[in-house]
Amino acid sequence: MKLVLNVNGSDRMLELEDRTSLLDALRDGVGLKGTHAGCEHGVCGTCTVLLDGEAVRSCLMLAAQAEGHAVTTIEGVTPGPGELSIVQDSFVETHGMQCGYCTPGMVLTAIALLRDNPAPTRDEIVEAISGNLCRCTGYGQIVEAIALAAERLQRSNTP
Ligand code: FES
Ligand code: FES
Repeated sequence: MKLVLNVNGSDRMLELEDRTSLLDALRDGVGLKGTHAGCEHGVCGTCTVLLDGEAVRSCLMLAAQAEGHAVTTIEGVTPGPGELSIVQDSFVETHGMQCGYCTPGMVLTAIALLRDNPAPTRDEIVEAISGNLCRCTGYGQIVEAIALAAERLQRSNTP
C-alpha cells in the first residue's frame, strides 16, 4: 500500500503493509524514533502523538487512518535544531523525567492539554496524564513540569 503521511509539516510518501500501525510507520517508515513503543496495546500512552492537534495512541491506529491528517511527533515540537520548546524545557527544569522513555508521550499529552486549557488546575493535569504511565514513577515532577509550562506559556502570550 502506498500512502502519504503529513508528519511535522512535511508530506512523506511511504510504502507499507496495509496492517502497519501509525507507530511503526513513524518509527520504521519515516525514521522518527522519538515516538516510543511501550505496551503496543493502547494502555501505556508512551506512543502518543498529535493528530490534528489531539493526543492519540499511535499503536492503536493504522497508518492509513492518519492519511489526510496532520501528525505531530516529539521531533516536531522543537522550535529549531538543538532547541527545546517551553513544555520540554519545563520538564528539564523540574526534573520531570528520569529514563525519559515516557517523556515524548507526556510532553505531547501536555501540549494538547495546554492548547485546550491554558491554565489547568493540578487535578486537571493529573487527569490529563492519567492515561500515560511512567515506570520511573516520576509523576510529581511531571505534574510540576506541566504546571510550570502553563505558567510560562501564559507569560509568553502576555503582550
Ligand atoms: S505503546 Fe501505545 S499505548 Fe502503549
Ligand atoms: S521517566 Fe522513565 S518511564 Fe517515565
